[in-house]
Amino acid sequence: MSDATKANSHLFSDLDEAATLRILNAFAVDLISIPTAEDLFWYVAQNVVGRLRFLDCVIYQADDAQTELVQVAALGEKNPFGRSILNPLRIPFGQGITGQVAERREAIVIDDLQLDESYIADTQVARSEICVPLICGNQVVGVIDSEHPEPGAFGPAELEVLITIAALTSAKLELLAEADRSRQRYHDLVDAHAQLSLEITSRKALEAELFNARKHDAVGRLTGRFAHEFNNLLTVISGNLEFLEEEITEGLALETLNAAQTAAERGAKLILSMLAFSQRTRLEPEEVDLNGVVRALFPAAQHPEFGAMELRLASHTSLIEADLNNLDAVIANLVGNARGAAPGGDVIRITTEEITHSLADRRALVTPLSPGRYVRLSVRDNGTGISPAVLPQIFDPFFTTKTVGTGTGLGLSMVLGFMQQSGGTVEVISEPRKGATFSLYFPAKD
Ligand SMILES: Nc1ncnc2c1ncn2[C@@H]1O[C@H](COP(=O)(O)OP(=O)(O)OP(=O)(O)O)[C@@H](O)[C@H]1O
Ligand SMILES: [Mg+2]
Repeated sequence: MSDATKANSHLFSDLDEAATLRILNAFAVDLISIPTAEDLFWYVAQNVVGRLRFLDCVIYQADDAQTELVQVAALGEKNPFGRSILNPLRIPFGQGITGQVAERREAIVIDDLQLDESYIADTQVARSEICVPLICGNQVVGVIDSEHPEPGAFGPAELEVLITIAALTSAKLELLAEADRSRQRYHDLVDAHAQLSLEITSRKALEAELFNARKHDAVGRLTGRFAHEFNNLLTVISGNLEFLEEEITEGLALETLNAAQTAAERGAKLILSMLAFSQRTRLEPEEVDLNGVVRALFPAAQHPEFGAMELRLASHTSLIEADLNNLDAVIANLVGNARGAAPGGDVIRITTEEITHSLADRRALVTPLSPGRYVRLSVRDNGTGISPAVLPQIFDPFFTTKTVGTGTGLGLSMVLGFMQQSGGTVEVISEPRKGATFSLYFPAKD
């Protein structure tokens, strides 16, 4: 066969050059909007190679290890199941014509496959073949391959066009890989930021906890000393008033004396609360059933028609060890605060339950608690709640948001002091306008 006859039998021999350029231009424009590598392979097989008179086309993708090609798209007879490939062909690098192109990274045109030893025939026996590699950076990422039933179907023009298609495809693949890497970098950054925020938050929480513990300790010692001194003074004052009582029996002087005695009694009560905060109360602990204490304090609440308070007591809780008089006062304090915060007559709920506390538990505890079993008593209201700005101060002695004369600000200080002296602590959970829950943790006796 002369060279001229050969050239005439090429696939593109009577193809309009403008039509080829139009197809390639459309491909270059469409490339921008192709979202994934999979879409790209199918687009190339069907809309580019397919429209350029190639009778078939198989695109293979190479693995990262550069050892194997896997079929990822096909055209014509080799594409019987639409976009799904049931048993993708796998070809090791170096094997057959496609495997050799992948290994050598060089395009190849074979005029007559019958004369080629490396040809591996598939279902349709072909006579000529063209195969070009897809190269990104210094990696072979795949090959585009086409076969033809006639010998000599592919010449320099077909090779040039297919190499152009491969170059555009490779460039887009590189772009997609870069987009993937940036997305991954962005996700890594987001993860690192989240991790950092978490660490900063827990460090801040730990610092706040430490600060509070130190503050309670310092204020506790000061309050204790102050209460002690003041108590000595008050003992002298009360003694003198008692002495006067024997002398004064009537009139204005008696009224003044009584007023002074009432003031001294109030002073004595304050001192008791201050001593409780500084954990210097002389306690007489005894075995107590917390449910029994609650029932005895609020007998009316056990009747369903009593609307102001709801008791949700665990069916069984371990006994605890506590000073009964102080325990009553502590619960009454919490209920008093709850009533003050929810003046609309909302229901106050008292709950008891037995829980296990471990160091990993993140609870809003005012002071640290050793791991172990505890009986917890919670008083929940849905009143005003406590703002985050006020929350760290509410256990400070004399801190109150009540008007002068209506609150001493010693209620919660006494509660905390008593709970610590009893081996437990207090937990507060509150959201402004949604209410507050104060929980007392008592070590459970086995
Ligand atoms: N259940 C609650 N809801 C909203 N705020 C509360 C609640 N309990 C306590 N507080 C806030 O904590 C402050 C301190 O409470 P604490 O019991 O120590 O003192 P007080 O109630 O103000 O005074 P006292 O107990 O002498 O009547 C209160 O003034 C209030 O601002
Ligand atoms: Mg109070």
